[in-house]
Amino acid sequence: MSPSLSEKPMPDLLTGQKSKTDVDPLTDPNFQTVGESWVNNPSMTCRDVNVFYSDKQAIADVSLDIGRNEVIAMIGPSGCGKSTFLRCLNRMNDTIDICRVEGEITLEGKNIYDKEMDIVFLRARVGMVFQKPNPFPKSLYDNVAYGVRLHGLANNKSELDDIVESSLKKAGLWREVSDRLDKPGTGLSGGQQQRLCIARAIAIRPEVILMDEPCSALDPIATAVIEELIDDLRQQYSICIVTHSMQQAARVSQRTAYFHLGKLIEIGSTSDMFTNPTHPLTEGYITGRFG
Ligand SMILES: Nc1ncnc2c1ncn2[C@@H]1O[C@H](COP(=O)(O)OP(=O)(O)O)[C@@H](O)[C@H]1O
Ligand SMILES: [Mg+2]
Repeated sequence: MSPSLSEKPMPDLLTGQKSKTDVDPLTDPNFQTVGESWVNNPSMTCRDVNVFYSDKQAIADVSLDIGRNEVIAMIGPSGCGKSTFLRCLNRMNDTIDICRVEGEITLEGKNIYDKEMDIVFLRARVGMVFQKPNPFPKSLYDNVAYGVRLHGLANNKSELDDIVESSLKKAGLWREVSDRLDKPGTGLSGGQQQRLCIARAIAIRPEVILMDEPCSALDPIATAVIEELIDDLRQQYSICIVTHSMQQAARVSQRTAYFHLGKLIEIGSTSDMFTNPTHPLTEGYITGRFG
């Protein structure tokens, strides 16, 4: 066994600082992700993805598949590129001027970075839920109806009513709000607001839902409700969740991807990774030696 990783100086992909030790997967050009990156019949595929902010590299050579009806958790120390990678999946990084994405990412076999890709449509197919619930300053009804109207997904008021109701039901919020749909979304509790944002994402019938630390602003009870919801949603969607909580990753995901300084170190079944991590960096993180 190599010396404790926490005592080893870590190379920094972003500053380019070299490790003082000679064995280091992060600077080794031949480093390969440990574990099974591929699934049968994936919903999305990512191949050799590199992301730069100006000349600083934030993601290096990441390849993985996202399966259907699975929750895949992205974990790793703060600043390792989890949010950056997640944002590649629906081209949210396009909104950051200095950000450049290389590599190939497909959704149902089509490269989402192709010139012909309609980005507004892509973001409907690959929805996103953020860390801090961000309901629009509109009624509950209009929050959920917003994207449906934008994309012309309902032909009349009664269809729209149905979509709003079914989305709120799927998000586990209908019972709590059905009698006050005309009230502002911002008046709900934090946990309810986050479920409203999930309802808003679901209403436009996405195929994949991205969640970036969706519970980190919530109390434990609201967190438990969202985690249960994520498990229900898996029956219909592929879900990629970034979490800084290993317990949460263990509770909600079937596969886990461990990132470290922009590299995908290890990927595989969540139960295997948490009980028997293969790579020493994964082990170090999971056993709490750093993070
Ligand atoms: N908008 C940005 N501009 C410049 N650098 C950024 C930006 N967003 C993230 N970074 C840098 O990219 C690296 C990865 O960040 P991020 O993806 O936010 O990591 P994580 O979500 O794992 O904490 C960090 O070094 C961070 O400082
Ligand atoms: Mg982040």
